[in-house]
Amino acid sequence: MKGKYSPFRFSPAGLRGLEPSATLVINEKVNKMWAEGKEVYHMGFGESRFPVHPKIAEALRKNAYQHSYLASQGKADLRERIAEFYERHFQIPAHPERIIIGPGSKALIHALFQSLDGELILPTPSWVSYQPQAHLVNKRVNWVPSSPETGYEFTIDALFETIERSRQAWGSPDILLINSPNNPTGRMFDIEFLEELAQFSRQEGLVVISDEIYGLVTHGLKRHRSISRFYPEGSVALGGLSKHLSLGGWRLGVAILPPNRAGAQLMRALRTIASETWSATTAPVQFAALVAYGEDPDVMGYVKECAHLHAIRTQYFWRKLTEMGVRCPQPEGGFYLFPDFLRWREPLARLGVNTSAELAVYLLEKYQLATLPGSVFGAPAEDLSLRLSTSYLDMETPERAQAVLDAYGQGHDPETLMEVYHPNTQIALARFRHFLEHLETMQEKSGVNGAGRRETLEEPVLAGA
Ligand SMILES: Cc1ncc(COP(=O)(O)O)c(C=O)c1O
Repeated sequence: MKGKYSPFRFSPAGLRGLEPSATLVINEKVNKMWAEGKEVYHMGFGESRFPVHPKIAEALRKNAYQHSYLASQGKADLRERIAEFYERHFQIPAHPERIIIGPGSKALIHALFQSLDGELILPTPSWVSYQPQAHLVNKRVNWVPSSPETGYEFTIDALFETIERSRQAWGSPDILLINSPNNPTGRMFDIEFLEELAQFSRQEGLVVISDEIYGLVTHGLKRHRSISRFYPEGSVALGGLSKHLSLGGWRLGVAILPPNRAGAQLMRALRTIASETWSATTAPVQFAALVAYGEDPDVMGYVKECAHLHAIRTQYFWRKLTEMGVRCPQPEGGFYLFPDFLRWREPLARLGVNTSAELAVYLLEKYQLATLPGSVFGAPAEDLSLRLSTSYLDMETPERAQAVLDAYGQGHDPETLMEVYHPNTQIALARFRHFLEHLETMQEKSGVNGAGRRETLEEPVLAGA
C-alpha cells in the first residue's frame, strides 16, 4: 500500500557506518550548551579565530558583484600567484597549469580519493576526516601504527610493515596521506625524514598526498618543508586560506599536482569532478584570494603575528599540562595537543572510563571541558588520548578574539599575555589540574585500601569556575 514507507531510500554503499564529522558534532553540542546558558571550555573545534585582515575583507567587499561562474580549475591569475607563493615560501616547483582551486582543501581531498585507485595508508593518529572520506568512495584504509611512548612518531619501518601486510593480503596500498604540521599532534617532519620518505615513496611507487594546510602556522621550532620539493613527480601538496588567515568559512583550498604527465592526467580527473560537483570556487572569494596570495607586507606580517599567537597559546597549554604530569608530544605547529591519560588508567576505570570516548564525555559532563577522543583520529580507544584545540579558548567571540590580538599588540610578554588576558585558558587548566588531583587521590587510596576497589566519589569541586 502506498504511504506505508517513506519515499526516501538511503544508499548504504557510502554511508553505512558513518556519522557526521566528530569535530562539527562537538561544535554544535557546545554551541547548544552555550545557548542554554551553560559554561563550556571549548577545546573540541580547530578553528583559527583571528579577524579577517582588513585588506582581504576590502577585496571581498569590492568584488561582491562578481557573480559569474569561474573556470572549474580556478582563476588563471590566482593560480599564477599561488604558484609564485608556493615557490617562494616552500620551494615547491609549482606551475599554474598544475594548480587547482577548490571550495576548501577538504573537498579537494575527497576529489583526489575519488580520482585515484588503490588503498589509502594513514599514519596513526590522523585528522578525523581522511578515513570517512575514504569510506565514502569505498577505499580501504591501512593504518600505520605508532605509540604514545614515542610521541606518535611516524616511521618508515612502520610504514613498510603496513604496506607489506596489505600486499600479503592482496591489497594495493598505493596512496600515502601525510600531514605536517599535524592535526592532532602538532608535530612536524624534519627535512631529513622527508628526504628519506621521498626516496622510499619513489622506490615503492607511492602517491603521496601531503596535507600542508597548517604550513604557515608554525611555532618557530622547525621550518615547514614540503615533500613536493623532494618527490615532485609523485606528490600532491594541499593548502588553503583556512588556517593561517582564519578564513575557514570562506572555503578556498588549493592542490598542487606533479609537473609531469601523470599530474596532467590527475588534473583532468579533478577538473571533471569539480565541474560535475561544485562547478567552481566562489567567485568573490577567488578575487579576494588574489590579495591573500599577493605577498602584501601587511598581510604577511599578520600571518606571522597570528602564527606567533597560536604558538604562545599552544606552547603555554602544553607546558602547563606537562607540568601536571600529563604525557603529550610537544607541538611544533598548528593549534593542537594530543595528550594521553594512560598513567591514570586504574582510577579512570573505577570511574567507568575505559576508552578515550568515555574520557571525553566524562570531562564534558563533570568539568565542562569539551575535547575530542583520540579514537576518532584512529588512535586505539584504550590509549585514553584526547585532542585538545587551543584555538577557541578566550577567542569565543569576534570581540574576545580582537581583545587577544590587541593585548598581543601592546607587547606583553607571553607569560603575562596568558595569565592576564586568557581567563578561560586558566580555568580550563585549573579544571584539568583538579581532575588529575582527583585521580591521584584515588590512586593513593587504592594503594592503601587495595587496588581495584570500587569507590563512591564525591562530585568534583571546581577550582577557578
Ligand atoms: C588537517 C586538516 N586538513 C584539512 C582541513 C580542512 O581545511 P579546509 O578548510 O581547507 O577544507 C582541516 C581543517 O580542520 C585540517 O585540520
